[in-house]
Amino acid sequence: MSDLDKILVQFEGDLQPVHSEQALEELRVRYLGKKGIVTAEFKMLGPLPPAQKPARGAELNMLKERVTARLSERREELQAVKLARPTIDLTMPGRRPQVGRLHPLTQIEERIKRIFRAMGFSVETGPEIETAFYNFTALNTPEWHPARDEADTFYLDDERLLRTETSPVQIRVMQRGKLPVRMISPGRVYRNDKPDPSHFPVFHQVEGLYVDKGVTFADLKGTLLFFYRQLFGPDTQLRFRPHYFPFTEPSAEVDASCYLCGGKGCRLCKHTGWLEMGGSGMVDPNVLEDVDIDSEEYTGFAFGLGIERIALLWYGIDDIRLLYENDLRFLRQFT
Ligand code: DAH
Repeated sequence: MSDLDKILVQFEGDLQPVHSEQALEELRVRYLGKKGIVTAEFKMLGPLPPAQKPARGAELNMLKERVTARLSERREELQAVKLARPTIDLTMPGRRPQVGRLHPLTQIEERIKRIFRAMGFSVETGPEIETAFYNFTALNTPEWHPARDEADTFYLDDERLLRTETSPVQIRVMQRGKLPVRMISPGRVYRNDKPDPSHFPVFHQVEGLYVDKGVTFADLKGTLLFFYRQLFGPDTQLRFRPHYFPFTEPSAEVDASCYLCGGKGCRLCKHTGWLEMGGSGMVDPNVLEDVDIDSEEYTGFAFGLGIERIALLWYGIDDIRLLYENDLRFLRQFT
């Protein structure tokens, strides 16, 4: 074996374990770099007798070409392996997609809508920016009534305001002139209240209205009893306490027996056995006449309930502000 063949054999041995581009570059430098093994052989051409130079030079060139060719072969192999390797590392731990969920208020609202839809009620909406006419006047609220007070109501100007209740939707629906009316209207309402554990300047109500020939207070009681039994359970009882609302006569506040203690008295119902749920009554004939409904022929009942109130009771939340802070640690609890 010539000395150059030995270099080639040695090179092949060194090339074999090379499987990274970095090691390949190191190998190239070791053989072809300035101080490389092959380069050193070229340097020794100088002192040779002129007659030997061409043959030795030709041999060295062949060696250098061979080494260069083998290096680039391996470089291509490495490249091919790199391209074929998947860029996804299947051993990495997975990342869970963030799954959203419905806000507790939305969940309660959906339940309420489902129950009333099953009884044939339509779901209506109205504007949150209302006029004093729809929010008060058409609802038989006298000019002197404290609810109109600027301290309680967000007025935008003399006539426009943020609705303080969902009751104006009653008027808008009755004005369409199609009878009978059997509707609920869930939505946001606004009152100039300072936030505290049971008040927030924005909250949600559900308005209900049923107008037809021969609607009685018994229909109101039956409808609400069915609703609250669906909501709180089949043993739920209702209590109607006489009250005053401008747009209903007679009017009553509705209490449901405490779903937690069954009426025996507990912390939730403040040991009364009853939970205050909302207002109700028979639509005042003045309200019907103002939207051109003959109050001799038609009667109706109406009710209004607070969605936050139900959510706080149902989920055992003790501060309404939690429903508006959008703290994920709180919201994630409501699957
Ligand atoms: N609008 C009343 C309120 O916000 C709630 C209410 C009471 C609505 C009696 C009604 C009703 O429809 O009949 O306090």
